[in-house]
Amino acid sequence: MTTKKGLKLVDRDEAGIDTAFRADVLDGLSQEQKAIPARWLYDDAGSQLFEDITQLPEYYPTRAETEILQERGNEFAELIGRGRAVVEFGSGSSVKTPLLLSSIDPSAYVPLDISGDFLRAAAADLAAKFPGLPVHPVEADFMREVELPAEVSGVRKLGFFPGSTIGNMVARTAVDLLRSMRETLGVGAQLLIGMDLIKDEDVLIAAYDDAAGVTAEFNYNLIRRINRELDGDIPLEVLSHEARWNDDYARVEMHLVAGEAAEFSVDGRRFSMQAGDTLHTENSHKFNRRTSNMLLLAGGWEPRARWLDGKGRFSLILAEAKPPRSAP
Ligand code: AVJ
Repeated sequence: MTTKKGLKLVDRDEAGIDTAFRADVLDGLSQEQKAIPARWLYDDAGSQLFEDITQLPEYYPTRAETEILQERGNEFAELIGRGRAVVEFGSGSSVKTPLLLSSIDPSAYVPLDISGDFLRAAAADLAAKFPGLPVHPVEADFMREVELPAEVSGVRKLGFFPGSTIGNMVARTAVDLLRSMRETLGVGAQLLIGMDLIKDEDVLIAAYDDAAGVTAEFNYNLIRRINRELDGDIPLEVLSHEARWNDDYARVEMHLVAGEAAEFSVDGRRFSMQAGDTLHTENSHKFNRRTSNMLLLAGGWEPRARWLDGKGRFSLILAEAKPPRSAP
Protein backbone atom coordinates (compact mmCIF):
# COMPACT_ATOMS: atom_id res chain seq x y z
CA MET A 1 0.00 0.00 0.00
CA THR A 2 1.44 3.36 -1.03
CA THR A 3 0.21 6.89 -0.37
CA LYS A 4 -0.02 9.72 -2.87
CA LYS A 5 3.38 10.90 -1.68
CA GLY A 6 4.84 7.47 -2.28
CA LEU A 7 5.17 6.66 1.41
CA LYS A 8 4.82 2.96 2.11
CA LEU A 9 2.25 2.29 4.82
CA VAL A 10 2.33 -1.47 4.67
CA ASP A 11 5.51 -3.16 3.54
CA ARG A 12 5.16 -6.67 2.12
CA ASP A 13 7.83 -9.19 1.17
CA GLU A 14 7.87 -11.29 -2.05
CA ALA A 15 5.41 -13.75 -0.48
CA GLY A 16 3.00 -10.91 0.27
CA ILE A 17 3.61 -11.11 4.02
CA ASP A 18 3.33 -7.91 6.03
CA THR A 19 6.91 -7.54 7.25
CA ALA A 20 5.95 -5.50 10.34
CA PHE A 21 3.45 -8.19 11.37
CA ARG A 22 6.08 -10.90 11.02
CA ALA A 23 8.69 -8.91 12.93
CA ASP A 24 6.28 -8.10 15.78
CA VAL A 25 5.09 -11.71 16.08
CA LEU A 26 8.54 -13.30 15.96
CA ASP A 27 9.89 -10.74 18.36
CA GLY A 28 6.91 -11.07 20.70
CA LEU A 29 7.04 -14.87 20.78
CA SER A 30 10.76 -14.79 21.60
CA GLN A 31 10.29 -12.86 24.83
CA GLU A 32 10.11 -14.31 28.32
CA GLN A 33 6.58 -12.91 28.66
CA LYS A 34 5.20 -13.51 25.19
CA ALA A 35 3.37 -10.44 23.90
CA ILE A 36 2.04 -9.27 20.54
CA PRO A 37 0.97 -5.65 19.88
CA ALA A 38 -2.81 -5.29 19.97
CA ARG A 39 -3.00 -3.59 16.57
CA TRP A 40 -2.62 -7.01 14.90
CA LEU A 41 -5.99 -8.09 16.34
CA TYR A 42 -7.70 -5.96 13.68
CA ASP A 43 -7.61 -7.81 10.37
CA ASP A 44 -10.97 -8.01 8.56
CA ALA A 45 -12.27 -10.82 10.78
CA GLY A 46 -10.95 -9.10 13.93
CA SER A 47 -12.51 -5.77 12.99
CA GLN A 48 -15.85 -7.53 12.46
CA LEU A 49 -15.50 -9.30 15.81
CA PHE A 50 -14.82 -5.96 17.48
CA GLU A 51 -18.01 -4.59 15.91
CA ASP A 52 -19.84 -7.59 17.42
CA ILE A 53 -18.22 -6.85 20.81
CA THR A 54 -19.68 -3.34 20.80
CA GLN A 55 -23.18 -4.91 20.71
CA LEU A 56 -22.62 -7.17 23.73
CA PRO A 57 -24.57 -6.49 26.93
CA GLU A 58 -21.34 -6.61 28.98
CA TYR A 59 -19.37 -4.23 26.73
CA TYR A 60 -20.57 -0.86 28.00
CA PRO A 61 -17.96 1.62 26.57
CA THR A 62 -19.51 2.08 23.13
CA ARG A 63 -23.02 2.64 24.47
CA ALA A 64 -21.79 4.91 27.27
CA GLU A 65 -19.75 7.12 24.92
CA THR A 66 -22.57 7.24 22.37
CA GLU A 67 -24.94 8.37 25.11
CA ILE A 68 -22.63 11.30 25.96
CA LEU A 69 -22.37 12.30 22.30
CA GLN A 70 -26.15 12.11 21.97
CA GLU A 71 -26.99 14.12 25.05
CA ARG A 72 -24.29 16.79 25.34
CA GLY A 73 -24.39 18.23 21.83
CA ASN A 74 -25.32 21.71 23.03
CA GLU A 75 -22.35 21.86 25.36
CA PHE A 76 -19.97 20.67 22.62
CA ALA A 77 -21.36 23.33 20.32
CA GLU A 78 -20.77 26.02 22.90
CA LEU A 79 -17.20 25.03 23.82
CA ILE A 80 -16.01 23.97 20.37
CA GLY A 81 -17.84 26.50 18.18
CA ARG A 82 -18.72 26.28 14.51
CA GLY A 83 -16.46 25.97 11.51
CA ARG A 84 -13.65 23.80 12.83
CA ALA A 85 -12.16 21.04 10.69
CA VAL A 86 -12.79 17.76 12.51
CA VAL A 87 -9.79 15.42 12.24
CA GLU A 88 -10.69 11.91 13.33
CA PHE A 89 -7.89 9.56 14.37
CA GLY A 90 -9.14 6.23 12.99
CA SER A 91 -11.66 5.98 10.20
CA GLY A 92 -14.74 6.70 12.22
CA SER A 93 -17.80 4.82 13.25
CA SER A 94 -21.12 5.11 11.52
CA VAL A 95 -22.76 6.12 14.80
CA LYS A 96 -20.44 8.33 16.88
CA THR A 97 -19.00 10.61 14.21
CA PRO A 98 -22.37 11.81 12.79
CA LEU A 99 -23.49 12.64 16.34
CA LEU A 100 -20.47 14.91 16.82
CA LEU A 101 -20.65 16.48 13.36
CA SER A 102 -24.32 17.33 13.66
CA SER A 103 -23.86 19.04 17.00
CA ILE A 104 -20.91 21.31 16.10
CA ASP A 105 -21.44 22.27 12.43
CA PRO A 106 -17.83 21.86 11.23
CA SER A 107 -16.32 23.23 8.00
CA ALA A 108 -14.67 19.95 6.96
CA TYR A 109 -14.17 16.35 8.06
CA VAL A 110 -10.74 14.71 7.77
CA PRO A 111 -10.64 11.01 8.71
CA LEU A 112 -7.15 9.53 9.14
CA ASP A 113 -6.56 5.80 8.90
CA ILE A 114 -3.79 3.42 7.95
CA SER A 115 -6.27 1.11 6.23
CA GLY A 116 -7.29 2.68 2.93
CA ASP A 117 -10.29 0.37 2.53
CA PHE A 118 -11.91 1.23 5.88
CA LEU A 119 -11.04 4.86 5.29
CA ARG A 120 -12.72 5.15 1.91
CA ALA A 121 -15.82 3.27 3.08
CA ALA A 122 -16.17 5.48 6.17
CA ALA A 123 -15.54 8.68 4.18
CA ALA A 124 -18.16 7.76 1.55
CA ASP A 125 -20.65 6.93 4.30
CA LEU A 126 -20.09 10.27 6.01
CA ALA A 127 -20.22 12.28 2.79
CA ALA A 128 -23.61 10.69 2.02
CA LYS A 129 -24.95 11.61 5.45
CA PHE A 130 -23.66 15.20 5.31
CA PRO A 131 -24.11 16.51 1.77
CA GLY A 132 -22.21 19.79 1.46
CA LEU A 133 -19.61 18.91 4.10
CA PRO A 134 -16.16 18.65 2.51
CA VAL A 135 -14.62 15.26 3.39
CA HIS A 136 -10.86 14.81 2.92
CA PRO A 137 -9.74 11.28 3.86
CA VAL A 138 -6.02 10.86 4.54
CA GLU A 139 -4.35 7.46 4.43
CA ALA A 140 -1.75 7.73 7.16
CA ASP A 141 -0.25 6.18 10.26
CA PHE A 142 -1.50 8.64 12.85
CA MET A 143 1.08 7.50 15.40
CA ARG A 144 3.36 9.95 13.53
CA GLU A 145 2.80 13.60 12.68
CA VAL A 146 0.51 13.79 9.63
CA GLU A 147 0.45 16.50 6.99
CA LEU A 148 -3.18 17.55 6.65
CA PRO A 149 -4.72 18.45 3.27
CA ALA A 150 -4.13 22.01 2.02
CA GLU A 151 -7.90 22.59 1.99
CA VAL A 152 -7.98 22.76 5.80
CA SER A 153 -4.81 24.79 6.39
CA GLY A 154 -5.66 27.96 8.26
CA VAL A 155 -8.82 26.38 9.70
CA ARG A 156 -8.80 25.62 13.43
CA LYS A 157 -8.91 21.89 14.11
CA LEU A 158 -10.81 19.63 16.45
CA GLY A 159 -9.14 16.25 16.89
CA PHE A 160 -11.58 13.41 17.65
CA PHE A 161 -10.24 10.21 19.24
CA PRO A 162 -13.18 8.24 20.66
CA GLY A 163 -13.50 4.68 21.96
CA SER A 164 -10.81 4.90 24.65
CA THR A 165 -8.38 3.69 22.00
CA ILE A 166 -5.74 5.76 23.84
CA GLY A 167 -6.13 3.11 26.57
CA ASN A 168 -4.57 0.48 24.31
CA MET A 169 -1.23 2.25 24.65
CA VAL A 170 1.21 2.18 27.52
CA ALA A 171 1.76 5.62 29.03
CA ARG A 172 4.89 6.41 27.09
CA THR A 173 3.32 5.56 23.72
CA ALA A 174 0.12 7.41 24.65
CA VAL A 175 2.12 10.54 25.43
CA ASP A 176 4.04 10.25 22.15
CA LEU A 177 0.73 9.99 20.30
CA LEU A 178 -0.83 12.96 22.11
CA ARG A 179 2.21 15.07 21.31
CA SER A 180 2.19 14.12 17.66
CA MET A 181 -1.55 14.85 17.49
CA ARG A 182 -0.75 18.32 18.80
CA GLU A 183 1.81 18.78 16.02
CA THR A 184 -0.62 17.45 13.41
CA LEU A 185 -3.50 19.67 14.56
CA GLY A 186 -1.54 22.89 15.04
CA VAL A 187 -2.11 26.16 16.85
CA GLY A 188 -5.45 26.68 18.56
CA ALA A 189 -6.46 23.03 18.23
CA GLN A 190 -8.84 21.19 20.50
CA LEU A 191 -9.06 17.45 21.13
CA LEU A 192 -12.19 15.50 22.08
CA ILE A 193 -11.00 12.18 23.48
CA GLY A 194 -12.82 9.20 25.01
CA MET A 195 -11.26 7.63 28.11
CA ASP A 196 -12.84 4.68 29.89
CA LEU A 197 -13.00 4.85 33.69
CA ILE A 198 -11.68 2.65 36.49
CA LYS A 199 -14.60 0.82 38.05
CA ASP A 200 -15.68 -2.37 39.80
CA GLU A 201 -13.34 -5.14 38.73
CA ASP A 202 -16.17 -7.59 38.00
CA VAL A 203 -17.76 -5.14 35.58
CA LEU A 204 -14.43 -4.58 33.82
CA ILE A 205 -13.63 -8.27 33.56
CA ALA A 206 -17.10 -9.12 32.23
CA ALA A 207 -16.67 -6.46 29.52
CA TYR A 208 -13.54 -8.29 28.29
CA ASP A 209 -14.72 -11.85 28.94
CA ASP A 210 -18.34 -11.91 27.84
CA ALA A 211 -20.70 -14.82 28.38
CA ALA A 212 -21.25 -15.39 24.65
CA GLY A 213 -17.49 -15.78 24.10
CA VAL A 214 -17.19 -13.11 21.41
CA THR A 215 -14.17 -11.45 23.04
CA ALA A 216 -12.54 -14.88 23.34
CA GLU A 217 -13.07 -15.37 19.58
CA PHE A 218 -11.56 -11.91 18.98
CA ASN A 219 -8.48 -13.02 20.92
CA TYR A 220 -8.31 -16.46 19.21
CA ASN A 221 -8.58 -14.77 15.83
CA LEU A 222 -5.06 -13.40 16.32
CA ILE A 223 -3.74 -16.97 16.54
CA ARG A 224 -5.71 -17.97 13.43
CA ARG A 225 -4.21 -14.98 11.63
CA ILE A 226 -0.67 -15.89 12.69
CA ASN A 227 -1.14 -19.53 11.66
CA ARG A 228 -2.60 -18.52 8.29
CA GLU A 229 -0.38 -15.58 7.34
CA LEU A 230 2.91 -16.64 8.94
CA ASP A 231 2.74 -20.37 8.33
CA GLY A 232 2.24 -21.21 12.01
CA ASP A 233 0.95 -24.27 13.82
CA ILE A 234 0.13 -22.75 17.20
CA PRO A 235 -2.31 -25.23 18.80
CA LEU A 236 -5.35 -23.10 19.48
CA GLU A 237 -7.01 -25.89 21.49
CA VAL A 238 -4.30 -25.53 24.17
CA LEU A 239 -4.90 -21.79 24.61
CA SER A 240 -7.73 -20.14 26.49
CA HIS A 241 -8.85 -16.54 26.64
CA GLU A 242 -8.35 -14.68 29.89
CA ALA A 243 -9.10 -11.10 30.91
CA ARG A 244 -7.02 -9.91 33.90
CA TRP A 245 -7.18 -6.72 35.92
CA ASN A 246 -3.71 -5.29 36.55
CA ASP A 247 -4.37 -2.94 39.45
CA ASP A 248 -0.89 -1.36 39.57
CA TYR A 249 -1.21 -0.22 35.96
CA ALA A 250 -5.00 0.26 36.04
CA ARG A 251 -5.60 -1.85 32.99
CA VAL A 252 -7.48 -4.88 31.74
CA GLU A 253 -5.09 -7.26 30.00
CA MET A 254 -6.09 -9.90 27.49
CA HIS A 255 -4.01 -13.05 27.58
CA LEU A 256 -4.02 -16.46 25.94
CA VAL A 257 -3.16 -18.97 28.64
CA ALA A 258 -1.57 -22.34 27.83
CA GLY A 259 -3.49 -25.17 29.56
CA GLU A 260 -0.58 -27.56 28.97
CA ALA A 261 2.94 -27.41 27.57
CA ALA A 262 3.06 -26.69 23.85
CA GLU A 263 5.66 -26.49 21.11
CA PHE A 264 4.97 -24.87 17.80
CA SER A 265 6.57 -23.09 14.91
CA VAL A 266 5.87 -19.80 13.18
CA ASP A 267 7.61 -18.74 9.97
CA GLY A 268 10.04 -21.64 10.41
CA ARG A 269 11.03 -20.72 13.96
CA ARG A 270 10.36 -22.92 17.00
CA PHE A 271 8.74 -21.66 20.19
CA SER A 272 7.45 -23.28 23.35
CA MET A 273 5.15 -22.55 26.26
CA GLN A 274 4.84 -24.25 29.62
CA ALA A 275 1.46 -24.93 31.22
CA GLY A 276 0.30 -21.62 32.71
CA ASP A 277 2.47 -19.44 30.44
CA THR A 278 0.59 -16.73 28.65
CA LEU A 279 0.69 -14.76 25.45
CA HIS A 280 -0.28 -11.15 26.26
CA THR A 281 -2.36 -9.69 23.43
CA GLU A 282 -3.89 -6.40 24.61
CA ASN A 283 -3.90 -3.72 27.29
CA SER A 284 -6.93 -1.58 27.91
CA HIS A 285 -6.01 1.14 30.39
CA LYS A 286 -8.69 2.71 32.54
CA PHE A 287 -8.55 6.22 34.00
CA ASN A 288 -9.91 8.52 36.63
CA ARG A 289 -10.14 12.31 36.52
CA ARG A 290 -6.62 12.84 37.82
CA THR A 291 -4.85 10.19 35.72
CA SER A 292 -6.58 11.31 32.53
CA ASN A 293 -5.68 14.93 33.25
CA MET A 294 -2.07 13.95 33.95
CA LEU A 295 -1.80 11.96 30.72
CA LEU A 296 -3.28 14.78 28.63
CA LEU A 297 -1.04 17.41 30.25
CA ALA A 298 2.02 15.23 29.63
CA GLY A 299 1.01 15.15 25.97
CA GLY A 300 0.69 18.94 25.74
CA TRP A 301 -3.09 19.19 26.14
CA GLU A 302 -4.93 21.21 28.78
CA PRO A 303 -8.22 19.58 29.88
CA ARG A 304 -11.08 22.05 29.48
CA ALA A 305 -14.30 20.05 30.04
CA ARG A 306 -15.23 16.50 30.96
CA TRP A 307 -18.48 14.62 30.53
CA LEU A 308 -19.58 11.24 31.91
CA ASP A 309 -22.47 9.00 30.88
CA GLY A 310 -25.42 8.75 33.28
CA LYS A 311 -23.97 5.71 35.05
CA GLY A 312 -20.51 7.30 35.41
CA ARG A 313 -18.73 4.55 33.48
CA PHE A 314 -16.99 6.45 30.68
CA SER A 315 -15.52 9.94 30.14
CA LEU A 316 -15.29 12.20 27.13
CA ILE A 317 -12.77 15.01 27.61
CA LEU A 318 -12.30 18.24 25.67
CA ALA A 319 -8.74 19.54 25.81
CA GLU A 320 -6.87 22.44 24.23
CA ALA A 321 -3.37 22.54 22.76
CA LYS A 322 -1.40 24.79 25.07
CA PRO A 323 1.84 26.54 24.22
CA PRO A 324 4.67 25.09 26.33
CA ARG A 325 4.90 26.80 29.69
CA SER A 326 7.00 25.38 32.46
CA ALA A 327 6.69 28.04 35.14
CA PRO A 328 4.00 27.35 37.73
C1 AVJ B 1 -11.26 -0.72 20.57
C2 AVJ B 1 -9.36 -0.64 21.90
C3 AVJ B 1 -11.28 0.48 22.61
O1 AVJ B 1 -9.86 -1.84 24.56
O2 AVJ B 1 -11.99 -1.77 24.91
C4 AVJ B 1 -12.63 -4.70 23.18
C5 AVJ B 1 -10.79 -3.22 22.11
N1 AVJ B 1 -10.63 -5.46 23.21
N2 AVJ B 1 -12.63 -5.90 23.78
C6 AVJ B 1 -11.03 -1.85 24.16
C7 AVJ B 1 -11.35 -4.42 22.82
C8 AVJ B 1 -11.43 -6.36 23.79
C9 AVJ B 1 -11.30 -1.93 22.66
N3 AVJ B 1 -10.79 -0.73 21.94
